[in-house]
Amino acid sequence: MTDPVVKPIDSLVAETRRQIQPYVFQRLEARKPRQAGQKIARTLTITSGKGGVGKTNIVANLAIALAQANRRVIILDADLGMANIDVVFGIRPKRNLTDVINGTYSLDEILIPGPCGLQIIAGGSGISELAHLAPETARRLFEQLRFLEDKADYLLIDTGAGINQNVISFCLAADQIVVVTTPEPTALADAYGIIKIISQARAGSHVSVLVNRAENEAEAAFIQERLESVAREFLKFPVHRLGFLPNDPNMYLAVRQQTPLLLFSPMSPAAVSLRGIVGEAFHESVAQELPKTGIEGFLDRLAGYFGRGAVQP
Ligand SMILES: Nc1ncnc2c1ncn2[C@@H]1O[C@H](COP(=O)(O)OP(=O)(O)OP(=O)(O)O)[C@@H](O)[C@H]1O
Ligand SMILES: [Mg+2]
Repeated sequence: MTDPVVKPIDSLVAETRRQIQPYVFQRLEARKPRQAGQKIARTLTITSGKGGVGKTNIVANLAIALAQANRRVIILDADLGMANIDVVFGIRPKRNLTDVINGTYSLDEILIPGPCGLQIIAGGSGISELAHLAPETARRLFEQLRFLEDKADYLLIDTGAGINQNVISFCLAADQIVVVTTPEPTALADAYGIIKIISQARAGSHVSVLVNRAENEAEAAFIQERLESVAREFLKFPVHRLGFLPNDPNMYLAVRQQTPLLLFSPMSPAAVSLRGIVGEAFHESVAQELPKTGIEGFLDRLAGYFGRGAVQP
């Protein structure tokens, strides 16, 4: 004889399972890996023209702020002459991009875990011009980079000082370009220089300016407006506004401690400003209006510029 109490419970469980089934499948659907070729990652190149204006620190802290906002972030150190993003994080990488280019390791094997779940691809200091890689070597590198599509919401690319073939190629290939300038006239002139090249080489580029080391908001706004107006008048090219970071002595202390500012001093003025920028300019509602062509699109364009080798600074 079946237990009269057990039976109703059994059927209740079965009924509950039936009811919940569609929702379980919905959840599984949501977690399904993306189809091959689906474009998810957003690529962002950070550049400046003039060296030493804060690019590498901005990349490191932007990555942390995005990772803290639950985005999957990978940093590519494309400062191929003097790669040093690892120094800002206090990491000593044993392997870097050179190992991938040489075919010694796969990209997976050189990805360095950073704070807050972000990952870092250390640049190799021995690589001079990517544009001059042998076709076979370039193909190997591109094949590996393609795998990043499944691993990242954001690929942040740090570039070196100056305006050269590598820097320009990474700018033109990215979905978005962030031009960093300080209020100094020399930095402003170089920022305009790189914007000019970008606008002429790929008119559809999306360029935003980030004013670093500003004394105050008014100074940052003045610098921003100058760049916007000269680009509008002489290049007929729109320059967007990302925001500004104040000159903050904590940045120097953080660099000395090899700890990104957002972790070293999260409430310092520059850290607060940076989180503000991520909260506004990188908010999903804003970001979805901006170009996003995935790693696939990025590599297609990069291959084009490398192949041509013709974008002269
Ligand atoms: N907001 C800031 N306030 C104060 N100091 C800053 C700020 N941003 C950057 N710095 C200082 O500027 C220095 C240079 O920064 P960083 O190395 O990030 O510049 P970079 O543009 O990457 O240089 P390079 O062109 O050589 O790659 C840092 O060591 C830091 O001390
Ligand atoms: Mg740098």
